[in-house]
Formats: sequence, structure tokens, C-alpha cells
Amino acid sequence: MSRLRGALLAAIYRKASGRQALPGETAAALHDYMVPCSGEGLYHESAVVDIYEKLPVPFGLVRFGVAPDHPEVKNVINAFTQTAHHDRCSFYGNVTVGKDLSIEELKQAYHALILTYGAEANRTLGIPGENLRGVYSARTFVGWYNGLPENKNLNPELSSETAIILGHGNVGLDVARILLSPIDLLRKTDIAAHALEAIAASKVKRVLLVGRRGPLQVAFTIKELREMINLPDARPLLHPSDFEGIGQIVKDLPRPRKRLTELMIKAALEKPSGNEAERRAAASKEWGLQFLRSPMEVIPGNDGKWVAGIRLSVNKLEGLGESAKFVQTEDVEDLECGLMLSSIGYKSYPIDPSVPFDHQQGIIPNNLGRVLHAPGLYCSGWVKRGPTGVIVTTMHDGFETAVSVLEDVRSGALDVSASKGGYEIMEALLKQRGIRPVSFSGWEKIDNVEVANGEKAGKPREKLLDVEEMVEVASQ
Ligand SMILES: Cc1cc2nc3c(=O)[nH]c(=O)nc-3n(C[C@H](O)[C@H](O)[C@H](O)COP(=O)(O)OP(=O)(O)OC[C@H]3O[C@@H](n4cnc5c(N)ncnc54)[C@H](O)[C@@H]3O)c2cc1C
Ligand SMILES: NC(=O)c1ccc[n+]([C@@H]2O[C@H](COP(=O)([O-])OP(=O)(O)OC[C@H]3O[C@@H](n4cnc5c(N)ncnc54)[C@H](OP(=O)(O)O)[C@@H]3O)[C@@H](O)[C@H]2O)c1
Repeated sequence: MSRLRGALLAAIYRKASGRQALPGETAAALHDYMVPCSGEGLYHESAVVDIYEKLPVPFGLVRFGVAPDHPEVKNVINAFTQTAHHDRCSFYGNVTVGKDLSIEELKQAYHALILTYGAEANRTLGIPGENLRGVYSARTFVGWYNGLPENKNLNPELSSETAIILGHGNVGLDVARILLSPIDLLRKTDIAAHALEAIAASKVKRVLLVGRRGPLQVAFTIKELREMINLPDARPLLHPSDFEGIGQIVKDLPRPRKRLTELMIKAALEKPSGNEAERRAAASKEWGLQFLRSPMEVIPGNDGKWVAGIRLSVNKLEGLGESAKFVQTEDVEDLECGLMLSSIGYKSYPIDPSVPFDHQQGIIPNNLGRVLHAPGLYCSGWVKRGPTGVIVTTMHDGFETAVSVLEDVRSGALDVSASKGGYEIMEALLKQRGIRPVSFSGWEKIDNVEVANGEKAGKPREKLLDVEEMVEVASQ
């Protein structure tokens, strides 16, 4: 039998081990997982895994999504790095699949192709004024402060006092926290230098997070809410009337929702005393949650170009619990702001006409990671499941898809009898096309430069922002 050759299209190396993850270990290697397919467990003793990534640097949203003030979350990079150093795993950055290499070319050169390209677009509101100046998607704003090359020139307008964030998810809370954090806290993070400078000069003092449903339907989680409540120099603004009647039902909620709701109720209803009362009174910034409001129209200012506010419909809920639906009433409400961030979720795009895509759900249709009606094609991560879930959830996707690949090898559904050329064939094509792939050791050179640049500024790293420069550094 020839060696199983698999290509993954992503920066993230997923843990695919049959064993339990150790605490703090959220990702390892596809090949760590593989024992002979004929045996009891599932792993492959000679599989070769090549990872193609469009950026010259690995780690996807762990580098470009996870908030800079959450460095502990990024420790998962250590496990990814261990995987990348395995002698049967290779990383080829700076290669865009679907552009530099086609799906068909990859299919010809590998036995299995696993699509893990995430959700790189964002949902849009579909309301008038959405494209006014001063309105940004949270995705581009996050990319901007995290040094994503394509967003480095966003230069968001931070000269007004009130910012509105649409959406009650964790990304919304990340963005609110970054806007309101004391600058000295951000200075110690790997936030991009341009963002640090802009946030230091920002006039934003008030951030309102607007959700279309109620307190029992928020999508953010307790740790992130607690961080907001305890954010230095900022006070929460929660309206007691939003929590009327909720106290009675809270005890029957599932535990995570119960604890989250109790924390919101505490922040809304309990009058702080002592130090906390003093802290809140002295705070120069504030943030609040607005419930049961749907965006209807972004209101322009007098010049017709810049955002001046948002018109919201006042909603009511139908149904109970997390699945309750919002229904718009005839009431509307206008809120003023000079900065608006739409944080209503991410979206995957189809990568190639030959790969099935469910436009409704924004995912590649699959059965346990097997792309439907496309033998040899697999998928994992947000493009498989949709843009929800934390790193651990995404890791479990990796387990599932890896098991599917290995089961298919074992059952013969995946034909690995013919030997395949793998990267050697791709290398020739990339050379012809003038593409300079970046290896993992190339990334490690970029890493060294970034860490050294960060040290000069007292930060853990200063990310390179220019793709050309990254490729240059990697090739030295
Ligand atoms: C703003 C934000 C903050 C988050 N914070 C946390 C957190 O604190 N904790 C937590 O547990 N989870 C967090 N998450 C969730 C976590 O990041 C995701 O669960 C996880 O990254 C999804 O992994 P993925 O591989 O599907 O996608 P991604 O991480 O997006 O990886 C996809 C990769 O594919 C590459 N790619 C795209 N198109 C192509 C192509 N055509 N060719 C080659 N490569 C391509 C991309 O460059 C990217 O590197 C956060 C998510 C976001 C959006
Ligand atoms: N610290 C962390 O662990 C962390 C940090 C960031 C992200 N993440 C994870 O990454 C995933 C993505 O996060 P996310 O915040 O982008 O998405 P999300 O969790 O899906 O939240 C999206 C929010 O937008 C709202 N929304 C959707 N469409 C809307 C519309 N048309 N109009 C108004 N509101 C709309 C949703 O309301 P409805 O509920 O009514 O649809 C929801 O409140 C999540 O699983 C999240 O937990 C984790």
C-alpha cells in the first residue's frame, strides 16, 4: 500500500488523538493519532500530512482572532508547533488554495484533501446605511487590532464618544473590551502598534451592545461577561427593568446559562457597596447591554456620509429559553453613535465550484467530515460546522474528521492503492506560478523577528503586517 498523503488547507493543526487531551492541551497532530488502520485503534503509521495556508504564517484565528489580552488562549500554539515539527507533517504558507493551486490539482496529488479554511467573510445586516463611513464589521476591526495584513489600513474612526456594537456574542464583548481597556493594559499585549496608537488617542467612552433578543438568549459566555464587569475604569450600565421576571425562572435554567444570567442580574440589580461602588462611580468609561432591539437602518449624519446613529425596532419574544424568537413590534427607537461595529457572526465562502457548498447554512455539506458526493474530500472546523464554537469545539471536529478519513482507509472507501506525488508535484506548479511557499522553519524566522521587535516595545511580539516582508524574512 502506498503512503497515505493528505493535504489540509489551514493553519491550524488539529489534535486528532484517540487519547484524552491533557489539561491545557487543545491541539496536536493528525499523525499522532494514527495507529495501523487494520488494528484496534485508529492511526496510520506512515501517513504524510501537508498543510497549505494562504498566509505566510500559521494558526488562523488563534493569531488573528483571539483577543490580544487573552495570551493564555494562544498557548495552544505550542501544541500546534509540536505537530508541525513531526517529520511527516509539513507546512506550506503563502499558498492560496483555489487560486495558487486548484482543488483538482490537489486531488490529483493526494489521497485525501481536508478543507479547513474557516469562515473568512462576515454576515451582513442587509439594512440601509450599512456601508456608511464609521460602520465596520467586527471581523475587520478584530483583524485590524490583531495585525491581519488585509486589515492593516482600516484606520477606524474613534473620535466620537459613543460606539454601538450590534450582536451579543463573544466577539462583540472582545471588541467592547479592547475599545474600553486602559491603554497600559493593552501595551503589554501583542496588539498591533497602529491599533495601540489609535486606541490611545480614542475618544470612545461609552459602548452599547445591542442584541435582538433578551438576556436569556445572549450568545456570550460568563468568563467574558465577568471581565467586562470588572474592567478597570469602566462601569456596567444594565437596566433592572430588562430582568423583570427573570429572577423567578433562573433556578430552572441549565447550569452555564443559570450562572451567566445570575451574573447579569447581579450587575443590573445589586447596588455595589464599598470599593466597588467607589470604583464604578470614579470610572471614566461605561458599557451597557440593550436587549430586544433589531437594527433597521443606519442613520447618516448631515453630510450623508458618516454614521450618526441607528434606528432599532423594539422587539418582543415568542417562545421560551434559548430558542425563543424575536418579533418586531411597531415601536422604533433611535440611538446616536459615531462608531458602529456589526458583530453578528462570520461566514464561510465556497472555495471552488467542484466542492459542494450549502449557501443557506454557509457550510460544506458533510457527514462526519466526509464531503457529500465527493469521495476523497473531507472538511473540518468552521467550514464544516458553521462559525460557532471555541478552539476545543474545533478540535473535536478534527477528531471526528480524522476518524472518518481513517475509517475510509480501513474500509477501502478511500482508495490509497496508487502512489501519489504530494508536495513534489505542487512544488513544481508553485514554482511555475512564481509563488514562494513559506515552510514552518520560515515561519519560525518570522516569529523570531516579531518577538525581537516586540521586546524593543516591551510587548510579547510585534507582528509583521506585510505579506511581502514576511516572505522575505522567511527566506533569509
Ligand atoms: C474574533 C474571534 C475571537 C475568538 N476567540 C476565541 C477565544 O478566545 N477562545 C477560543 O477558544 N476560541 C475563540 N475563537 C474561536 C476559534 O478561533 C475558532 O473556533 C477556530 O479558530 C476555528 O478554526 P478553523 O480552523 O475552522 O478556522 P480558522 O482559525 O479561521 O483557520 C482557517 C485558516 O484557513 C486559512 N485559509 C482561508 N482560506 C484559505 C485558502 N483559500 N487557502 C489556504 N488557506 C486558507 C486562513 O488564513 C486560516 O489560517 C474566536 C473566534 C473569533 C472570530
Ligand atoms: N473568548 C472566547 O471564548 C471567544 C471569543 C470570541 C469568539 N468566540 C467564539 O466564536 C464564535 C463566534 O462568535 P460571534 O460573536 O462572532 O458569533 P455568535 O456567538 O454567533 O454571536 C452573534 C450575535 O449576533 C446576533 N445576530 C446574528 N444575526 C443578527 C442580525 N441579523 N441582526 C442582529 N443581531 C444578529 C446573534 O443574535 P441571535 O442569538 O439572536 O442570533 C448573536 O447575539 C462563538 O462560538 C464564540 O463563542 C469565543
